[in-house]
This record gives sequence, C-alpha cells and structure tokens, in this order.
Amino acid sequence: MGVKKIKYRPAGQFEETRFEKIHNVIFSNSNEASIHVAQEIAELIKTKQKQNKKCILGLATGSSPIKVYEELVRIHKEEGLSFSNVVTFNLDEYYPMEINSTHSYYYFMHEHLFNHINIDPKNINIPSGTVSLKELHQYCIDYGLKIKEYGGLDFQLLGIGRTGHIGFNEPGSHSNSGTRNITLDHITRVDAAPSFLGINNVPKKAITMGIGTVKKAKRIILLAWGDNKASILKKTIEGEITSEVPATYLQEHNNTTFILNEEASQKLTRIKTPWLVRPCIWDKELTSKAIIWLCVLTKKSILKLTDKDYNNNGMSNLLAEEGSAYDLNIEMFNKIQHTITGWPGGKPNADDSSRPERATPSKKRVIIFSPHPDDDVISMGGTFDRLVEQGHEVHVAYQTSGNIAVSNHEALKYAEVIKDIDPKNTKIDAIIQKINSEVIDVENNIDVRRLKGLIRKRESFSATRFLGVPDKNIHFLNLPFYETGTVKKKPLGQEDVDIVTKIIDKIKPHQIYAAGDLADPHGTHKVCLDAIIASLEILKHNDYMNDCWVWLYRGAWHEWDIHQIEMAVPMSPDQVLKKRKAIFFHESQKDGVMFQGDDTREFWVRAEDRNYETARKYHALGLADYAALEAFKRYHF
Ligand code: F6R
Repeated sequence: MGVKKIKYRPAGQFEETRFEKIHNVIFSNSNEASIHVAQEIAELIKTKQKQNKKCILGLATGSSPIKVYEELVRIHKEEGLSFSNVVTFNLDEYYPMEINSTHSYYYFMHEHLFNHINIDPKNINIPSGTVSLKELHQYCIDYGLKIKEYGGLDFQLLGIGRTGHIGFNEPGSHSNSGTRNITLDHITRVDAAPSFLGINNVPKKAITMGIGTVKKAKRIILLAWGDNKASILKKTIEGEITSEVPATYLQEHNNTTFILNEEASQKLTRIKTPWLVRPCIWDKELTSKAIIWLCVLTKKSILKLTDKDYNNNGMSNLLAEEGSAYDLNIEMFNKIQHTITGWPGGKPNADDSSRPERATPSKKRVIIFSPHPDDDVISMGGTFDRLVEQGHEVHVAYQTSGNIAVSNHEALKYAEVIKDIDPKNTKIDAIIQKINSEVIDVENNIDVRRLKGLIRKRESFSATRFLGVPDKNIHFLNLPFYETGTVKKKPLGQEDVDIVTKIIDKIKPHQIYAAGDLADPHGTHKVCLDAIIASLEILKHNDYMNDCWVWLYRGAWHEWDIHQIEMAVPMSPDQVLKKRKAIFFHESQKDGVMFQGDDTREFWVRAEDRNYETARKYHALGLADYAALEAFKRYHF
C-alpha cells in the first residue's frame, strides 16, 4: 500500500497553526493513523539494519498504540520485517505487579507485540513490578543508565493520559526527571478502573521512565484518539509549558509529532473555531457551528446578533457572502426551530416539509437499538415514550447482555433469593460459592455471568413494560463480541453482524434509533454502531430500506453539539419524571455503578442534567423554553 510519510514540521509557522506549539497531524480515523506510525517505525528499523546498527525503541502500552502494534506484527508476518536488531524499553509498569497478571504491561506487550515477532527476548526491557521496595531506587537508576548505554532512544512512542501524563509522569513531574517510582493520579486510576473491574483494584503506584529520558529520544510520536483526550490536547499543544501538564514539556523537543484523530483534535483552535485562524469555506455545518459559537461568546440569542458581532469575531467573510446579519440570523433561527418536534415518528396528516420526520406512514415500525440494557431509557427515554404513545410499533433490540456491569454483591442478592426458594438447587450453590470466593476473575465464571446477564434482562423488561411495549417486541441479541467476561472485548465478527442484520430484515423498520456515541474508540457503543452500519450496508438494496431513516442518540456521557442536532424532542416536567422512573428499573446500575468513570452522578441525574442543558441552550439561542430536550442526529447510509 502506498503510505505517505509523516513529515515533521515545526509548529506555529503557518497562519493556521499559529496557536500551536507542537507539530500535529490529524487523521480521519485512528486505524489509518496507526498504519502510518507503524510504517515510520518499520522504516526506522530497516534504515538501522542497513547501517548495521541496533534500533532502540521506547514503547508505550494502553489503548492508543494497540493498532500500531497490530500493524507492526502484520508487516513482520507479511512483509518479512525483522526485529532482530531491535531493542525496546517500555515506559512504565504498575507497582507492585506480577509479571503474569493480565493487568501487567509485561503481559500487554507480549500479547500485542513480542509474542508475534522475532525480537530477541534479551532485548526486551520493561520496568519490573516485582522488584522489592528496598531495591527499587537502584533498579530505577539502572533502568535509566541502560538506556543511556545504548546511546538513548532512537524513537519514543507515547500516549497521553487525561492528566497530561506521558509515561506515568503525572502532574508535578520535573522536566529532567529520571526513571522512578511514582504515585498515580486519581484520574489515571479512574481511567484504569474498568479494566481492573473497579478502582479499588487499580495499583496506587507505578514505575515510570522520566521526562528527561523521554525528551532525549531522537524522534517522538504521541498518539491520541477520542473526545476524552481533546481538552488535555488543547492544553498540551496550545498552552504554556507547565509541570501541571507534563506533556507540555514536549514543546521543547524539536522532533515531536502528535498523531490525532478528528475527535481528539476537536478542541484545537484551528478545528474548533477555524474562522479565527484563516478564511473559511462556509458550508452549512460550519455556518451553524460558528453562529452558535458567536451566540455563546456574545451571550446573545440568534436574532440579536449584529453585523458588528460577526465582523469582530472572524466571521466577516461569512457576512460578506450572505449579505447581512439579519438574513443569516433568520435562516439560522428557522433551521434550529425546525429541529424541534413532539412527534419523533412524524406528525400524521401534517405538512412535513420543515419537520425532521416524515408524516407517512403514520404508524411506523421502529427499532431502538440499545448497546447495553439501559441505554434506551437513559439516552432517549422521553422519545421512546412518545413513540409508544403515538401508536408506533416500537421494538427494542438490546445488543449486549451488559453482564459485566453487575456487581458481585448484586448478583449474590439474587442468587440467595433463588436459594431461599429452592434450597436444594446445587447450581445456585455453586454460583454463590464462586461469588463468595472473591477471586477477581469471578467474571470469567460462565454461570455467574449468565446470572448477571439475566438480572439485567429482567430489569429491561420492567422498564419496557412500564413504557407500554409488549414483551414480544423486546429482543435480546447477546452479541458474541461482548461475551469475554472482561472489559476487553473481541473485535466485531460476522456472527455479530448477522444477528443485527437478521433483526432489521425481520422487522423492516421505518426508523432505527442507535447509539452514536463515539467518545471511546474501543468501547462497546462504537462496536455496536459498527455492527448496525455493517448490517445497513448489507441490507441497503432492499426496497424497504429506502423507507428507513436512522437516528443517532448519543450515549450516557455526552450530547450532540447544538449545530449537529437534527431532531430535538421536548419533554414536559412530567415526562422527565416518567423517564426517571424508567431508568430506576435498572436497579443494578444504581448507587455507584461498576463503570462509573470520573462522573459520580447516577445515570438518571446525568440524563436529566443533559436534557435540561440542551433545553437551556436552545432557550439561550432564542427558542422556546422547554423543560428538557432529547437530541438526535440523522445517519445517512
Ligand atoms: C502507557 C503509558 C500511559 C498511556 C496513557 C494513555 O505505557 O505510559 O502514559 O499512554 O495513559 O493511555 P490510553 O492509550 O489507554 O488512553
């Protein structure tokens, strides 16, 4: 394949990048980006081979570099790239940590790279989480010295934590720091919690290569994917150098490139507000984005914006193209006004020319795809309720069992009830015993997992019955990719796609609702959406698909930006309460769920806050004052 080279260019030299202090390249997706990075590493290894030299690589773990390693393995297997001259130094390891634990970075590196290439095991260096506390200080000094003896790192691969850490150099790290034992930041532990099945299992300490060593690498590439890295990347790339954001030290390195995907780059000035850095081509999306930004900046509603507001804030050429603020404002106001509808399935017998949905057929068949058993009510409970009340044939397809998100004590409660009813049940005895054994890998026990999945299934039925959907319209797909028993899932497979295809083909829906939450590129929601997209590709030539519209809601964590919203469904205060009640049926997910993230609000609070916030934003733009709004974006296939 013809892969273009990632060229290093000093940041800030061009008009567009004048806010930036670190060179970065933005790719439309992380797979394509990773292939480029792997290619650069492969080229370096080959160049060193020609010079009869060793190639000294600094390597990272975490979710960001996985695809780079996968591609390196492919290049090794298919193109014969040899790693015989490669010496590696990993950035970090949890401390303490057993080598053969699935949580160790030792395990990670072997699983993703070393077991599949011809590297000499003697050339692999990973900080050891098993060194005694007494020996640790000297061990760290020796690790740094060994890198020096090899002449330093030729190449360093990095990820970035939400704290701005590189390696595990957390805020407060010195720019000349060496390899050492450090205490992990709380945010870092929160981010690691899902794969450890709870924050209490995440080690508090780690060994990390220091900033000083990283900065001496001859070439550095940092990878960052996904919305949740966008804020720290803006600070790192555009902010001042500070120990509060250790990655900013990379501004002083003269051969560093950040490789980003679109989500990760979205807060950079040139992406978020491109009109502030260069003349723009004003398509409809950019125009909406800019006008809404202008309203927030000036604290004005749309119809109050003036020519001066546009001219003073980088939008003079938009004004020149469109004529006047008056015209621009009216057009924008109408556009947003037309996203609002109390009839998400279309309003029967009404003129639908400026409504988000078609009036016909007046009774639609609808599938709500829900990645986990509660996303339907959390993300679109109000719309769900209206669809049922307005007489549409609503089906819900739960894509995964969601079993790993049920805690052991919750499962124990149900198991003991079964035991109370049926004291002779030996199967339930075994489950109770397994749960009580408190072994961390209890999730791997298939019967415990099944019980947990069933708990979630019954909770879903309670919620859907409450909203008035007959049981026959509820479909539990139990997609196989999810059933690993751990946070790490299998990649999407044909069998997953077949299951989704079958249900769409059976129901022949006029509307599909799906979770368009792409915040976590490796997350379940993304895989579930990929399964639907793959199915749509397969089915799109069927006649009934011409009549099928796909609407995306976002997951529990985020909402669409206002300019992205194409359908906004208002909720009255009573409907908000009804939605809350529907969420309450998911009892196993209440009171501190297992995969909380760093947002400690319960799901129903988060959902309400988000729907109130969308309504507040609409009102601030000059639209009607609703209690709450749910938002959707159309997906065209
Ligand atoms: C891993 C490491 C960390 C990660 C960072 C991002 O060896 O040193 O700095 O690169 O925490 O992690 P992911 O890639 O999982 O988002």
